[in-house]
Amino acid sequence: MYAITAVLVVSLMLGTTMAAVTNMRVVTYNLRYDSQPDNLTVQDTFNSLPDPLVEPKYLAVTQEKPWSTRRIRIAHDLLSAGIDIACFQEALVRQVNDLAELFGSDWDWYGLGRDDGIAAGEFSPIFYRKDVLKQVSRGTFWLSDDPFNPSKYPEAGSLRLCTAMRFAHVASGKYLTILNVHLDDQSDQQRRLAASMLLMRAKYEAFNTGAVFVIGDFNSPPNGRDSGAYSIITGATPPVPVNQTFADIYDVDSDKLPDFHMIDLRTATLRQNVSGNYATFTGFTAPQDTKEWERIDFIFGGNNWGWYSNRYIVGTALSDDGILSSDHRPVYADISV
Ligand SMILES: *[C@@H]1O[C@H](CO)[C@@H](O)[C@H](O)[C@H]1NC(C)=O
Ligand SMILES: *[C@@H]1O[C@H](CO)[C@@H](O)[C@H](O)[C@H]1NC(C)=O
Ligand SMILES: *[C@@H]1O[C@H](CO)[C@@H](O)[C@H](O)[C@H]1NC(C)=O
Repeated sequence: MYAITAVLVVSLMLGTTMAAVTNMRVVTYNLRYDSQPDNLTVQDTFNSLPDPLVEPKYLAVTQEKPWSTRRIRIAHDLLSAGIDIACFQEALVRQVNDLAELFGSDWDWYGLGRDDGIAAGEFSPIFYRKDVLKQVSRGTFWLSDDPFNPSKYPEAGSLRLCTAMRFAHVASGKYLTILNVHLDDQSDQQRRLAASMLLMRAKYEAFNTGAVFVIGDFNSPPNGRDSGAYSIITGATPPVPVNQTFADIYDVDSDKLPDFHMIDLRTATLRQNVSGNYATFTGFTAPQDTKEWERIDFIFGGNNWGWYSNRYIVGTALSDDGILSSDHRPVYADISV
């Protein structure tokens, strides 16, 4: 009797503790590629920071500033927000290296350059805290008709890839998979193919691992003419056919997890816990110039669940002096698995 009670008490306590300790803050942030390289080191930036007691000229700047100016604001914002996982997009290798330096030795990351599968072109890297998550496996595939080689969908503006990582949560031992993506800006056909591949891969992860998230910049809104990717990933319209080699590996039998699709965390979070802004892309325009503003950056979780979203926050990239850290805003979610 005592033994049974003790076991019950212990498992109840473990249940509560585990729900608390698996809480992780994840962010997706399109960093804007370093279009104005100036060769300044992170140390140069530290050395040129203004006197913290001097009042800035409010909203004095309106255009894009070099990465060397933006990077420290990005690191400050994300680290002070207490993130555990960051899914970045549009980062050139020098930006990835700068962030690794700014984040420090508590962090590790994985990603490949999209143009050659090594270091050329933009990365969609995943950064994670080593004390929170342990890497189980990782890989990259291209969102094209030739997914296992660096390749471009015919009508797309650029090569596009997905960074996939499977993690074990260190404290609880629970698994989760993250697929970090940056879909094409020009071709809705590419985006529909990409969403179909992501849905197939996510279902494979849901069936084999459990909690699965698709995170990133869809370069397209949830509604209207260009919403093919959102519509497919959320199960509103059927997927399009994908490369057969890819399907041979990842397609799960249709009787398993029927109606698998991804849920937009903005709708899967208690309404009063959805905070901050709506638009995730603002451009580098003046604060009152909203004509390009759109919601195109998303965090989705699989409808097999195994996860819970406590909070969903769209932050800001704007500082008092008018400098925008990026033309996108950071999108955060507090998830537990
Ligand atoms: C940056 O460094 C490269 C290679 O050393 C050099 O060619 C380039 O002119 C430098 N750019 C600036 C803005 O100093
Ligand atoms: C499918 O993808 C594989 C691996 O990337 C590639 O070798 C093959 O040619 C692709 N098939 C077609 C029809 O494009
Ligand atoms: C809402 O957010 C608060 C603060 O993070 C959290 O404690 C609470 O559990 C959340 N509520 C729900 C229903 O997720």
